[in-house]
Amino acid sequence: ARANIGVVGLAVMGSNLARNLASREGNVVAVYNRSRAKTDELVRDHPEAGFVPAFSYDEFAASLVKPRTAVIMVKAGGPTDAVIDELVRVFEPGDIIVDGGNALFSDTIRREKAVRETGINFVGMGVSGGEEGALLGPSLMPGGSDESWITLGPILRSIAAVAEGEPCVTHIGHDGAGHFVKMVHNGIEYADMQLIAEAYDLIRRGTGKTPAEIADVFAEWNRGELESYLIEITAEVLRQVDAETQKPLVDVILDQAGAKGTGAWTVQTALSLGVPVSGIAEATFARSLSSHPEQRSVSRDLPGPADALDVADADAFIEEVRLALYASKIVAYSQGFDEIRAGAAEYGWDIDLGAVSKIWRGGCIIRAQFLNRIADAYAATPDLPVLLTAPYFVEALGRGQDAWRRIVQTAAGAGIPAPAFSSSLAYYDGLRAERLPAALIQGQRDFFGAHTYKRIDKDGTFHTLWSGDRTEIEAEDTH
Ligand code: 6PG
Repeated sequence: ARANIGVVGLAVMGSNLARNLASREGNVVAVYNRSRAKTDELVRDHPEAGFVPAFSYDEFAASLVKPRTAVIMVKAGGPTDAVIDELVRVFEPGDIIVDGGNALFSDTIRREKAVRETGINFVGMGVSGGEEGALLGPSLMPGGSDESWITLGPILRSIAAVAEGEPCVTHIGHDGAGHFVKMVHNGIEYADMQLIAEAYDLIRRGTGKTPAEIADVFAEWNRGELESYLIEITAEVLRQVDAETQKPLVDVILDQAGAKGTGAWTVQTALSLGVPVSGIAEATFARSLSSHPEQRSVSRDLPGPADALDVADADAFIEEVRLALYASKIVAYSQGFDEIRAGAAEYGWDIDLGAVSKIWRGGCIIRAQFLNRIADAYAATPDLPVLLTAPYFVEALGRGQDAWRRIVQTAAGAGIPAPAFSSSLAYYDGLRAERLPAALIQGQRDFFGAHTYKRIDKDGTFHTLWSGDRTEIEAEDTH
């Protein structure tokens, strides 16, 4: 045995992660894939990596020094379970199995529990950054036991992206904590992408600028407070011209957004936890709406406003869109961190929100300057209940809110869908409200179902005898 780490599953993500591992001082990497061809190809194409190929699980286990450590990079779901079963068969107590796929955190909790009974450590690890990140430096979100972190920490630190001198990896928390945080990362990714798409749409329809001209706007934005990977690649996509038609590529791409499910998981989980991640939800639903061509085609002639959007001062409008985008982005991140906080409380994880924001500064899809501001906010107040109430964000929201409101009004007036912009603003105003019409909802619930209500002026639980004489009585609390 001479490899200190192994990778199972040699599709693009797996082979890139294996190459990344092999490129770092001190690592010898064992590789295994279900079909032999992929292993042979990887070993042949990358002699510099010094891979130790294995062609059976027994051989794979024998090639690893103890505690054996293997990262699984196969499809989430059934294929992952199948590989875990095989590794459990050939590994021994104290060894470490890492699942680097996009697993649902509840599956990771289940798997960790089952594997722990064998004495083997199981670590669910979020890996972000796509193919390039896996090869050059991803953002890594490992969960699992403290014991496994002792072995894994140095290895993961060696391959992670580096942001401001710090590796983008931290031990997130036990069992499913890493995959939970990765899930929320993806939810925020959906919101960020939708907000950028809405900004592009408004600018295009409001100013008539071409995609190439809007690419310049995004490139300019990327030099300011919006600086981020997603803004950067947006400019690249908008500038791309289709070789066949000579049209902007964005105009020949079918406007139906795909999704592999992590955004939906974020929203489903938030619904169960009672966390209002409305921006992430709208972003997820916007993808769903786009992907129903039959519904869109029968709806095309629905009445809309008479006049198209016609902006008088394009530069001023673009600046307002930028401010609206930034304010909505603050909301999306605030909601995402709220979900992590609530998940940690529900599942008993001790998650350092500031550390999470730091490991997202590099390597991952949502990497951005902005995450430094979140790190600052949690450094100042680690138990901040609402991220957007941190002084820096209050200032930014104060600076942007008038523009934000005008952009949402303009979009609604012109019949341009801006679901993420609008829902973020509604969330912001909901949080700010002195009184919410939730009081009326409580009244309605009490009317039709005797669900009871609380009063603002005295303790206790009450019910009005709606079908009787409508006097109020004290009641059992039914929520
Ligand atoms: C990452 C990404 C990645 C995700 C893709 C596709 O962090 O590297 O989040 O894990 O799978 O972005 O997601 P959708 O197909 O759902 O858009």
